[in-house]
Amino acid sequence: MAISKEQFIKELNKDLEWEFAAAIQYVQHAAVITGPEYDAISAELIVHSNEEMAHAVQVSSIITDLNGAPVIDVEERKVSENAKEMLEQDLVGEELAITRYKERIKQAEELGEYGMRRILEDILMQEEEHRRDLLSSLGR
Ligand SMILES: [Fe+2]
Ligand SMILES: [Fe+2]
Repeated sequence: MAISKEQFIKELNKDLEWEFAAAIQYVQHAAVITGPEYDAISAELIVHSNEEMAHAVQVSSIITDLNGAPVIDVEERKVSENAKEMLEQDLVGEELAITRYKERIKQAEELGEYGMRRILEDILMQEEEHRRDLLSSLGR
């Protein structure tokens, strides 16, 4: 059975909370991680932060298009004093986003929302890019 529209909106609102959390976490990590060897990585994290906020805008308008009300709540953010650990925390967030958006794409398809599916696929592609960037920053 296909997901209900109400449940779909609920899940999108959770995605939105995670986007806000990711944007904030990246701002903090970019500021704290500075040091000569981390200049390029710090700049990359700021780019990620801006992209997460753009995702928040996109997800919010999907929610209003469905006649839902976008939340302003923020999911859990992680901080660390260790640069490598910060990048690992960011990686966990990206893995979660990838898993969640794959589900959302499937559900949009089930609901016949092909335009929304396409927007979600574009977001997913960026989350996968973020994951690649973090893995290369971690030397993996
Ligand atoms: Fe995102
Ligand atoms: Fe991301």
